[in-house]
Amino acid sequence: MNDLVVLKIGGSVATRKREGRAEIESSNLDRISSEIRGALKKKDYRMVVVHGAGPFGHNLVKKYGLDKGFSDSTQLAGLVETRRSMEELNYRVVESLVNAGVNAIAFQPSASGLLDDGRIVDFQVRLIEGFMSLGVVPIGYGDLLLDEKKGVSVLSGDYLAPYLALKLKARRVVLAADVKGIYSSDPKIDGQAKFLPELSSRDLGGLRLTGSRSTDVTGGMKGKIEALMDAASQGVEVQIVSGLEPGLVGKALMGEHVGTFIRK
Ligand SMILES: Nc1ncnc2c1ncn2[C@@H]1O[C@H](COP(=O)(O)OP(=O)(O)O)[C@@H](O)[C@H]1O
Ligand SMILES: [Mg+2]
Repeated sequence: MNDLVVLKIGGSVATRKREGRAEIESSNLDRISSEIRGALKKKDYRMVVVHGAGPFGHNLVKKYGLDKGFSDSTQLAGLVETRRSMEELNYRVVESLVNAGVNAIAFQPSASGLLDDGRIVDFQVRLIEGFMSLGVVPIGYGDLLLDEKKGVSVLSGDYLAPYLALKLKARRVVLAADVKGIYSSDPKIDGQAKFLPELSSRDLGGLRLTGSRSTDVTGGMKGKIEALMDAASQGVEVQIVSGLEPGLVGKALMGEHVGTFIRK
């Protein structure tokens, strides 16, 4: 069977996350959509896309305390609003991909899976697999899912992407964010931070990582690394690239070692 790549488009790339505004950054999104289309045209492989939330999700989740689970009915309005907001963002991402010529179809993580204390205990990967075999590129996102312990929990795109990669036996996960890759410390705070082009999964535990400077309930780069540790140690290649610099997502999809490349 042909290769499978899981791409996560960060909220920091697809939305105006730094300004904290729930708006699409269409110049980035549309460019990445055409890079995806270009890569799919050049190479025969299957693909799943997961996107982050940016201010469409994180700010509402924080406002209603949904990152701590569901404990009282005043959070219902927040649950409804967050879900609607994420569906709107997802619609816009799918629209951008379809306009670029990608056979993109949305899947809703909150209708596909169940969490227990934030961990996935059930997910309908067979449906995603089935649609992919028809030639579809399924598009999911970070979402609020039912949680057996907490009522609801956030399933971050950073966690969903490597989870799907493992379940679907993907060769590679590509995460596009607003930094060039992984540095020795947060490059937005530390001017001396050293860029790390290549890492082994064994190096990941020793990194000095922090969260995001924007509102991000899923922990910025630290959350990403924790989420992808399992997949990396089981041999899925992981690449973290800038989604702001034109061409890099396309190159990563084609197998070039741009950004930070993590191998087993
Ligand atoms: N060691 C590090 N290397 C790279 N980025 C880091 C590091 N530590 C913290 N970060 C922060 O992680 C951020 C990316 O995570 P995040 O904001 O969650 O992006 P996304 O919206 O794509 O999920 C960067 O903007 C950066 O400020
Ligand atoms: Mg994030």
